[in-house]
Amino acid sequence: MSERFYITTPIYYVNAEPHLGHAYTTIVADVAARFHRLAGYEARFQTGTDEHGDKIAQAAAAQGLAPKAYADRISGLFRSLWPQLNVAPDRFVRTTDPGHIKVVQAVLQKVYDADDIYFAKYGGHYCVGCERFLTEHELVGGCCPDHGTTPIFQEEENYFFRMTAYTGRLQEHIRAHPEFIRPERYQNEVLAMLDQGLEDLCISRPKSRLIWGIELPFDADYVTYVWFDALINYLSGLDWPDGPAFREFWPAAQHLIAKDILKPHAVFWPTMLMSLAKAEGRPAEDYLYQHLNVHGYWNVDQAKMSKSLGNVVRPLELAAKYGVEAFRYFLLREMTFGLDSSFSEEALIERYNADLANDLGNLFSRVLNMLHKYRGGVVPEAEAAVNKESGQYEPNAPWETCLGFFSWVWQQAHLYQQEMESFQFHRALSVVWDIIRATNKFVVTHEPWTLAKDPARATELDKVLFTLSQLLADIAVLIWPVMPETAQGMAAVLGMRGIEPGMLEMVMSSTHLLPAGAQAAEPPALFPRIDTAKVQAKAAKAGQKAEARPKEAAVNDEQTSASDEQISIEEFGRVQLKVATVLAAERIDGADRLLKLSVDAGEPQPRTLVAGVAQHYAPEELKGRQVVIVANLKPAKLRGVTSQGMVLAAVGEQGLCIVSPSKEMPPGSKVR
Ligand code: MSP
Repeated sequence: MSERFYITTPIYYVNAEPHLGHAYTTIVADVAARFHRLAGYEARFQTGTDEHGDKIAQAAAAQGLAPKAYADRISGLFRSLWPQLNVAPDRFVRTTDPGHIKVVQAVLQKVYDADDIYFAKYGGHYCVGCERFLTEHELVGGCCPDHGTTPIFQEEENYFFRMTAYTGRLQEHIRAHPEFIRPERYQNEVLAMLDQGLEDLCISRPKSRLIWGIELPFDADYVTYVWFDALINYLSGLDWPDGPAFREFWPAAQHLIAKDILKPHAVFWPTMLMSLAKAEGRPAEDYLYQHLNVHGYWNVDQAKMSKSLGNVVRPLELAAKYGVEAFRYFLLREMTFGLDSSFSEEALIERYNADLANDLGNLFSRVLNMLHKYRGGVVPEAEAAVNKESGQYEPNAPWETCLGFFSWVWQQAHLYQQEMESFQFHRALSVVWDIIRATNKFVVTHEPWTLAKDPARATELDKVLFTLSQLLADIAVLIWPVMPETAQGMAAVLGMRGIEPGMLEMVMSSTHLLPAGAQAAEPPALFPRIDTAKVQAKAAKAGQKAEARPKEAAVNDEQTSASDEQISIEEFGRVQLKVATVLAAERIDGADRLLKLSVDAGEPQPRTLVAGVAQHYAPEELKGRQVVIVANLKPAKLRGVTSQGMVLAAVGEQGLCIVSPSKEMPPGSKVR
């Protein structure tokens, strides 16, 4: 029996049309499900719409529609969007489905019978946007931190779920399972929330105030609080309690959400599940999900996406403009899973041109063109490299390097698998692009065009072309979860059977995907380059100035907000910082702020640097001093002197002070 994987997205409120944020989460879930299928798992992926509650009732009323008619329309928009983004959920749940309603009522009854629900009077700060009572701790200046609105103080009799009976055990579970909520920053956030102490959860609304909800099975005057109703979709979509899907997939459940709905998923939901376990006399572990995967927020050009700012990004418009597959790739590659990201079309075009057109597109057409030119499009036989008597590979240079290359790729595929399994999609794609770039380099170092000129080197050429064709097949498999259509297209052109479940194993082991003799078709242009000038001109013409902003302006914007922008460790790792010793320092004629330094950075030759420190240090003071330099900064000419790097200094109201190591270090030592 193969292993299983069950992934869910939040079910989206039907008070707004789908936008970039909804598309991102759902594409990530689709990618995770596809990846697990590729890795041999039986995967199930569920999404849906959340249709009850105040917010929906109000939105429907604003349009003069009955809530259900309104919900039907918006839910339909979500449902029809997914196939257009190459997203293929196995189940789409609506909270107005009769099946879901039945399950919610059955869960409520069980929890009530187990004495985990009680009736009491309560007064609290209710936020309509959040659809919940906010605690005093959560209010910022008396307002909801997410919606900026003043909550309404409400006092009424309601039903409460004994959430606090489970929070201690939840803390223990989280501590014992550090991967329960990931990435780690969100686990810490939840532990801090639990440390602060919580109250029991109000799970009903009197019908006198709200009728658009699921009636409580034990009191017809009340409807169910929308979060208690919505979270249960994760069970109702598996036909809880008796459906085979529930038995098979619930033990493999993983949820995917953004940080905005951490509390309901990390606190309400697991405590509800623990109560259900108690009601059924089962251990809590039987009912808890495996992982809660939490991602950050997409902002747009550094601002929060919102209707009022008029910057809501519509996924279908982008897919129409750049292609669905490029859109999916961009989202997964650009966002560091767990952190916020800023969306801009410029960044999308940049990645498209660099990664898809240049790296992947070029490699594909270049290898296939050579295969056609030199071997009529037929994948050559490379087994000629095996010595018939010994059964060993002939120790000749190209085949040795081909084998070395294959084993490196197989290792990279393991890394890719690890990153995908831990939801680090940007890193997994970066591994694939390392393979693509290394394959492009392989072409350059082996020069098939030179081999083709010499008939005596025909078998060498066979081996090189065999290797390159296999690599294209491997790459197609690895990109399939993110770009399924492109990957299948590549496979078809290569003459390979389609990409199928379980195929990842072949890329990670010494199995070649393409048999010798496979006939390749003529390659189409995979990702034709986008002419940025044309796009900008078109956008300017359409009056979309924001989209057509010149690059410098975007860079400046980034600088002004750089203080609160977070970067990944990889981004920081691109900056090479080194210790250097100042050998000589002198003033530069006509520049009263600059000094020209000659430094020993542990390299064969001293480096020349220009530093703006002349008003704070005399040249003599610097001689012999150790400094920290940025060693991989592009050289720049200042007052006729080329500076090969930059000296780090602390700058404040008290002036400027050069940064030095606290004890003498060998020149060239890395600073991390
Ligand atoms: N209905 C609740 C969820 C109930 S789940 C049992 C809800 N719906 S929502 O329509 O507001 O969707 C919130 C989710 O949409 C986020 O958690 C995230 O998955 C996605 N996103 C909405 N805006 C987003 C961004 N700007 N950026 C990234 N994802 C965001 O909450």
